[in-house]
Amino acid sequence: MERKIKIAPSLLAADFSNLAAEIVKVEKAGCDMLHIDVMDGHFVPNITVGPFIVKVIRKVTNLPLDVHLMIERPEKYISDFVESGANHITFHAEACHGNLHEVIELVHSHAITCGVSLKPQTPLSCIRESLVNVDRVLLMTVNPGFGGQAFMPEVLKKVSELRGYFDRDIQVDGGINEETSKKAIQAGANVLVAGTAIFGKSDIKQAIEALRCQI
Ligand code: DX5
Ligand code: ZN
Repeated sequence: MERKIKIAPSLLAADFSNLAAEIVKVEKAGCDMLHIDVMDGHFVPNITVGPFIVKVIRKVTNLPLDVHLMIERPEKYISDFVESGANHITFHAEACHGNLHEVIELVHSHAITCGVSLKPQTPLSCIRESLVNVDRVLLMTVNPGFGGQAFMPEVLKKVSELRGYFDRDIQVDGGINEETSKKAIQAGANVLVAGTAIFGKSDIKQAIEALRCQI
């Protein structure tokens, strides 16, 4: 089946002193959604933004906001992110401590899409029983926490295995560039998150098209 390849620029690599202008640039360049990385300093060793910034971003764009929660106990903050304007929420299975199913239900109770993410070392078996209830699986292709890291090719096996039995969105995140995007798409991914490979380029439209493998 031909799947549309969707591109989600990660704002982590944008110039935050000029955020509105950066968002307009990627929107005009034809991206499909905006990826917002939320880190709490506990689940990952870094701290980024919270609901307040999502609300600010919501004011300057109509693009779908794809919020990636790298936080412990995501259930505590899901309604705050929904109220701030998130359209898609993805949280980490490793951060749920036994209540994965309840957190999925909580996201869906807000009538937005729900994704579950796995760190590179976490096996697919951890989410196998919940797959029927999720809209998207985000397979991390770096250890979460920082932009600009190198793609981990060993995750490709997990992407193709998952594509064998999962028909919805498979998103990859971390070290995605012109070369690694091709490998991820071949393995079965259809949503590509990229920070450095988009905001680090002078021609953003061309960068996005290159990731879609259209040039
Ligand atoms: C990492 C984040 C990513 C990151 C991607 O923990 O989830 O979204 O910003 O950045 P690049 O594309 O630079 O690897
Ligand atoms: Zn991310």
